[in-house]
Amino acid sequence: MCGIVGYTGPQSAFTPIVEGLRRLEYRGYDSAGIALGTGTSLFVEKRAGKLANLEGALPANLPTVHSGIGHTRWATHGGPTDRNAHPHLDNEGKLAVIHNGIIENYSELKAELEKRGHKFESETDTESVAHLLSELRKEHGGDLTAAMRAAVRRLRGSFTLLAIHADAPQTIVGVRRNSPLVAGLGKGENFLASDVAAFIDYTKRAVELGQDEVVTISPEGIAICDLDGKALPLKEYEITWDAAAAQKGGFAHFMLKEIFDQPKAIADTLIGRLSDNDQVLLDELHMSDDEIKKIKRISVIACGTAYHAGMVAKYAIEKWAKVPVDVEIASEYRYRDPIVDKDSLVIAISQSGETMDLLMAVRHAKAAGARVLAVCNTNSSTIPRESDAVLYTHAGPEIAVASTKAFLTQIVAVYLIGLKLGQVRGTLTDAQVKSLYNEMLELPGQVEQILETIEPLRELTRKFVKNNTVLFLGRGIEYPVALEGALKLKELAYIHAEGFAGGELKHGPIALIEEGTAVIAILPTKDEHALDEKMLSNIQEVKARGARVVVIAPEGAEVIGAEHIIRIPVASPLFQPVLATVPLQVFAYEIAVARGTDVDQPRNLAKSVTVE
Ligand code: AGP
Repeated sequence: MCGIVGYTGPQSAFTPIVEGLRRLEYRGYDSAGIALGTGTSLFVEKRAGKLANLEGALPANLPTVHSGIGHTRWATHGGPTDRNAHPHLDNEGKLAVIHNGIIENYSELKAELEKRGHKFESETDTESVAHLLSELRKEHGGDLTAAMRAAVRRLRGSFTLLAIHADAPQTIVGVRRNSPLVAGLGKGENFLASDVAAFIDYTKRAVELGQDEVVTISPEGIAICDLDGKALPLKEYEITWDAAAAQKGGFAHFMLKEIFDQPKAIADTLIGRLSDNDQVLLDELHMSDDEIKKIKRISVIACGTAYHAGMVAKYAIEKWAKVPVDVEIASEYRYRDPIVDKDSLVIAISQSGETMDLLMAVRHAKAAGARVLAVCNTNSSTIPRESDAVLYTHAGPEIAVASTKAFLTQIVAVYLIGLKLGQVRGTLTDAQVKSLYNEMLELPGQVEQILETIEPLRELTRKFVKNNTVLFLGRGIEYPVALEGALKLKELAYIHAEGFAGGELKHGPIALIEEGTAVIAILPTKDEHALDEKMLSNIQEVKARGARVVVIAPEGAEVIGAEHIIRIPVASPLFQPVLATVPLQVFAYEIAVARGTDVDQPRNLAKSVTVE
């Protein structure tokens, strides 16, 4: 939930650290702070609010510094104030610590340290670590790495920690447990950060860090050891993103750029997934055909938008592979003693790969013997690394807090899994697989077509800016799309929005309808269940009670009673959600812009929720 950066090298440390924090602000922006080594002391500045507040507080004549740590915060313990902003210092003001995560036993540590005379200034859990490290550093003859190893043995919870000491400022020590940290290998300079976006301008060589691994960086190099001090090899990998990909590309907001990235993101996720003889190519599943045939049940586990992707995918996997699929909210999963065993396949969907609720659910399922397959958009993040296999979506960096291109690529990625399972289990013929795959290959062009004709929707949106309640209706596979449309509007425009299964209206929610209530109805593609006709009845029901209805409808479908119709291309029922979602994303975006909210960094939210 926080952004963390460390730099050591020949440059003035202000630039790589402050620019690195700017790239990580999407991880949290309640406060920001830096601690830089001047050679004899630490230069520390920290401010509540966004990074700009901190920059405004920096002196015109900056000291000469070549190393330091920086932090942008999403508050957990202690409100977003200057005092609670990171870094936190020991009482001598010579050791600084920054932290992402939660130290669960901080209060007992704090009581113990206060008994030994340490004075605390903040309400945070992190400050306990600063005082503990200071003590341990003295006990270990000034060795900050040894002190960090000893400190970690005392800590419970999830954390990424970076520490710097005034007496040896070119050395920065870090450690991670259940929270992201990656090292960047430069030429005569080295980096630590929550994710590669922070240092991608300087180096594309990254080094993966595992659980409870302590990393020490200096301009000369990077060293990693375990808690016993045993040296570990550097697991280096090449970053495939470029800096431009992490920028807005000329769009007003990251979110709008990422909406328009969707055709390419879908195409990249699908590319090369069917062989010349019509076999689905998903070697990364690391499952033999026998293992696939033995699967008795599938649990798709995720949070938020990723959870909605799982709800959509359920329809396809059950239809194609004839395996029962449960879709689970990650934060609920492990507390209900789920039925899970070696015949279970768990599909963990996550854009960031760091969502703590999902990581804990994955661990629970693995401990019960299930095979866990991650579907993730972030290379080498924690959830893929703790899963048995991973299928990466290729959406590129998704910076906006509101997930868009990740959602559509999650759907098509899990659809590929459904095709593979169906083909291996014999519930789909090769010809059917080829036909379905080719239909999916049409999706990028169809999304492109929607985006090219989006102007009328942007105009229409302005008529609904003042509505404080918006209801979304969907039936069948469009029901999760209604939920996703509502979530987008909630998180972007701070409007109370709810998604309903159309058939549920008459069981209570229709009482919400009054003159002027805004209702967005998603008309399903005509299918054997005639759900489109049932949705047309739902539209009449709400219209009769004064609702203003906008209908997202396939080209050519008959629509009665709508104030506005947004037409989208016709795809078969299982693929229609990929298309119907796009107008809902734009609708929420435009309302948010019109209402002046912070589109890319909505209040109270963060891009990666790494606390439970
Ligand atoms: C989506 O718009 C939200 N920002 C949020 O619900 C998000 O989908 C959820 O937190 C899951 O994140 P993940 O995909 O990175 O695990």
